[in-house]
Amino acid sequence: MIKVALPKGRLGEKVYGLFEKAGYECPSIRENNRKLIFENPEKQICYFWVKPSDVPIYVERGAADIGVAGKDILLEHAPEVYELLDLGLGKCRMAVAAPKGFRDTGERTLKVATKFSSIARRYYAEQGRDIDIIPLNGSIELAPILGLSDVIVDIVETGTTLKENDLEVVETVLPISARLIANQASYRFKAGEILRLTETVKEFMTHD
Ligand code: PRP
Repeated sequence: MIKVALPKGRLGEKVYGLFEKAGYECPSIRENNRKLIFENPEKQICYFWVKPSDVPIYVERGAADIGVAGKDILLEHAPEVYELLDLGLGKCRMAVAAPKGFRDTGERTLKVATKFSSIARRYYAEQGRDIDIIPLNGSIELAPILGLSDVIVDIVETGTTLKENDLEVVETVLPISARLIANQASYRFKAGEILRLTETVKEFMTHD
């Protein structure tokens, strides 16, 4: 049996749709919206819904054999897992954004509000720019509006949240997409099943 940690929400539903097409269906998952764990013994597959940022923890510690997590979460937390496949889903970008017209003159320490402290630190260290991180957990866009920070480092998908709050992208930090990851021991002990699943899912991926 392969245990799969899926990120709860829109991305996870798309990922499940892909796995279903690839022959790893588990019909009960579509019938119940409160249950968190679903098994299809016939297909030797078991899914659980996990908070997206927790997926790498389940996989790293072996509670799940494989899982799906955004590249943002993988770069931020650097879990010891294998990255097997870019699923091409959940595409967005990590970007620096600021109030319209903002220019960094480089004269003083830049205040950066973000949920992604490690990514932001690394990005500015590469540029030799001194920064002060303001760690937040959500609604990051508020920080520069209220003067809590100069800029934000955050996920931009459609750009609507920035637009609605009079912010704009200053620089793109990295492109992001969902990745299939595996527990290191599972990858050895369930090599056949995991490789077969990876290859089959790959065949059913739509390329845009
Ligand atoms: C993310 C991100 C932005 C928004 C970007 O937030 O932090 O706020 O999506 O999407 P857009 O470019 O399509 O508007 P999320 O919904 O994950 O909630 P959060 O406030 O908890 O970060």
